[in-house]
Amino acid sequence: MHSRVSEIRNMKGTKKIVAVTAYDYTMASLCEEGGADILLVGDSAGMVVLGHPSTIPVTMDHMCLFTGAVARARKGCMVVADMPFMSYQTGAADAVRNAGRLVREGADAVKLEGPYTDAIRAMAAAGIPVMGHIGLQPQSASLSGGYGVRGQTAQEADTLLEEARAIQESGAFCIVLEKVAGPAAGDITDSLHIPTIGIGSGPLCDGQVLVVHDMLGMYPARLRFVKRYASLSEDIRQAVSAYRDDVESGAFPAEEHTFPVRDG
Ligand code: KIV
Repeated sequence: MHSRVSEIRNMKGTKKIVAVTAYDYTMASLCEEGGADILLVGDSAGMVVLGHPSTIPVTMDHMCLFTGAVARARKGCMVVADMPFMSYQTGAADAVRNAGRLVREGADAVKLEGPYTDAIRAMAAAGIPVMGHIGLQPQSASLSGGYGVRGQTAQEADTLLEEARAIQESGAFCIVLEKVAGPAAGDITDSLHIPTIGIGSGPLCDGQVLVVHDMLGMYPARLRFVKRYASLSEDIRQAVSAYRDDVESGAFPAEEHTFPVRDG
């Protein structure tokens, strides 16, 4: 088995898995230096990088570009690339072909939303490690109950557990639980032998993932399940404003920023 995959699998029950999204070289380098175990090239790029209102417009070409940039920054951690809308829903053969493109760009594994067990089995058989994703699935949210919390009733929690088991049996090495009620996420985590990684799903998962723009305070939306570890929007606004003042006043560039001539 792929060594990074077995490292992540072996963390279940021993050490929490730390995942964060990244879409470009510089941010990926900084997140790995900060200690992330997994860099997730999420299709959330559709919103935080490309400015769309959802992940639906994200294409394979976009994901290949972002995945290549993140993979070139990675030194040792795992890079997982999201499979965008309609890159796997159309059948297992499409899924394998598209996942192969992401692996060629440097991804160690791919992630897809929902219990697409045929696609997961086919990718795993082709040697491509797969991360599942259940709970809130942004690619199909408008068809399946919006952006609310999942697993708050016993029936919903049972369905989620069945989906998680089916994904595990299909060969996924790990599974993201998005916006699943805390106790339901805990039950799923206890019932699986593969790790769960939560986002908005409470503390009982085997690991956590956040969108980097949210945790660094760079994206305006305020989400209850996000903890902000920095306020970069404010820092960036202040820095650009100070730069503008310096350019206008002539304080920048100063002598130390200016190249002298060599002889006279
Ligand atoms: O696209 C993404 O960033 C994701 C995470 C929210 C898990 O899928």
